[in-house]
Amino acid sequence: MPTMPTFADVLRARLSRRSFLTSGLAAAGLGWLGPAAWASSPLGFAGVPASTADALVVPGGYVAEVLYAWGDPISDGPAFKPDASNTVDDQLRQAGMHHDGMRFFPLPAGQTGSTHGLLAVNHEYTDDGLLHPDGMLTWTAEKVRKSQAAHGVSVIEVQMDRDRWRVIRPSRYARRVTAATPMGLTGPAAGHPWMQTAADPAGRTVLGTMSNCAMGYTPWGTYLTCEENFQFYFVNESGSVPALQQRYDINERGGGYRWHEFDERFDAARHPNEPNRFGWVVEIDPFDPSRPPVKHTALGRFKHEGAALAVAPDQRVAFYMGDDARFEYVYKFVSRDPAGPSALEHGRLYAARFDADGTGVWLELAPGQNGLDAGAGFPSQAEICVAPRLAGEIAGATRMDRPEWIAVHPLTGEAYCALSFNETRGQAGRPGPDPANPRADNVYGHIIRWRERGGDPTATRFEWDVFILCGDPTSADPARRGDIKGDVFGSPDGLWVDGRGVLWIQTDVSTRLLHKGDYAGMGNNQMLAADPVTREVRRFLTGPRGCEITGATGTPDGRTLFVNIQHPGETPSERSNPATPKGVSAWPEGPAGGRPRSATVVIRRADGGVIGA
Ligand code: FEO
Ligand code: CA
Ligand code: CA
Repeated sequence: MPTMPTFADVLRARLSRRSFLTSGLAAAGLGWLGPAAWASSPLGFAGVPASTADALVVPGGYVAEVLYAWGDPISDGPAFKPDASNTVDDQLRQAGMHHDGMRFFPLPAGQTGSTHGLLAVNHEYTDDGLLHPDGMLTWTAEKVRKSQAAHGVSVIEVQMDRDRWRVIRPSRYARRVTAATPMGLTGPAAGHPWMQTAADPAGRTVLGTMSNCAMGYTPWGTYLTCEENFQFYFVNESGSVPALQQRYDINERGGGYRWHEFDERFDAARHPNEPNRFGWVVEIDPFDPSRPPVKHTALGRFKHEGAALAVAPDQRVAFYMGDDARFEYVYKFVSRDPAGPSALEHGRLYAARFDADGTGVWLELAPGQNGLDAGAGFPSQAEICVAPRLAGEIAGATRMDRPEWIAVHPLTGEAYCALSFNETRGQAGRPGPDPANPRADNVYGHIIRWRERGGDPTATRFEWDVFILCGDPTSADPARRGDIKGDVFGSPDGLWVDGRGVLWIQTDVSTRLLHKGDYAGMGNNQMLAADPVTREVRRFLTGPRGCEITGATGTPDGRTLFVNIQHPGETPSERSNPATPKGVSAWPEGPAGGRPRSATVVIRRADGGVIGA
């Protein structure tokens, strides 16, 4: 595979010639990596066309197989029933719904093998129209418990045997973490009065994790699952929603999950602190099913997309994190201690300000810094960690167009952040365009990137540029054309940089928008590869109808790629009609199956080569 060292070597050589310590203005003026230098593209596959087929399409020479679909047993458990009649106890031993971020951990632990390992997989949310035989036509405590059991995380053991991956059953590692699993709290907010509830007066033990969107991992071998849209599970019908709940979008309607009808802790009027116990980064040891998950409050509470690791020269760890909502912030956590099992318990939290000259500042969110003090409502770090949105506002962080996944380039240390879209930018009463979010009515989104001063992830200043403005080059409106060099896409969400340094982009065009208006002709959701140097983009995969593509992780040898197909068959309402479960999609089983199922797929090259090369 000669492409692999060539690409990395050229990139390293190029970067060593550039001074990252020059002024931001100079760096911005020079451009990022200069003109293209290598003779051949690192993208060695034949791109696939946009598609509206109810199929997963990969390039010629590649093979994609379903590995782990909603309802599949994690170990020697019950089989999936196509009419969705599996019980709560079945679901507790089966794959949850709506697979999202994930990570491959080689076995043995700490090694770099590529044929055997653990997959930690997020199950972000449920479509209760598909989860129960009659959907939500009736509503019971049993259905709430099944919905909660279908949320959370799976850990499964996987192995490749004669070029085919399979789930190992039974496995001593197999585990489900759900929206009811007991877990601990660490950091400044653990035990704080805002975390105390009737069921947990100490404020130190939470039941469950949910809205597990993107992810992260640590150098010490643990998985981070990140809680995003937790507000949808709460309802506050008091008529006077507290300001803190309002700032986190809790209201009288909720997201339609109806958990509060049978599980009173989701009644945010009766239990106003319960929402404060969600919206965190949660650490799971995939190698030890007996070890409880832990929510780390030092990393802040918001609609976490993911937590992207960067290790500093002094071995402290930094995590870049997006708060996925319109006009919310990009954050960074820097640990106090070097990488190690307690490094997520203490550290500094920052929010990003992107300045017009191509530089930026990490604004520390701490008492005594950036206008944050008792008078502003922040007597201690605990309140800041529970409400970093309020702190970031006071500090003057830049309001972004929905910060989604962030990926750190392993060779350059540059961080790439997907901003999926914000059609409300520039509307009356809303912020207008700014240099980092340059378009009003930003229906296609963009990808921004930054590089820390001195190449040190603990730095408080950085340089940034816009990597790609997404768009439709055929649009009559110049502002909507974007600047993509190659295959067209919009609504970037998942990002991952592979070991060769190729940036992979996954799209999440809302099912409300797919195939219509601005997204007419752009096909189903897709996954593309981008060359960070030339900015060339090539479409690698298209998903079945109504799905989002998310979660990407590879084996260390680069020869196996795992990708999640989330919510195939989703309707614009995001809840299916139980009478017509296959109304939009019948993927993956086709007509023989009972209903569409989110699934982890394995992608390999028929010749066993490196993915994408
Ligand atoms: Fe769960 Fe922002 O995607
Ligand atoms: Ca996402
Ligand atoms: Ca999403």
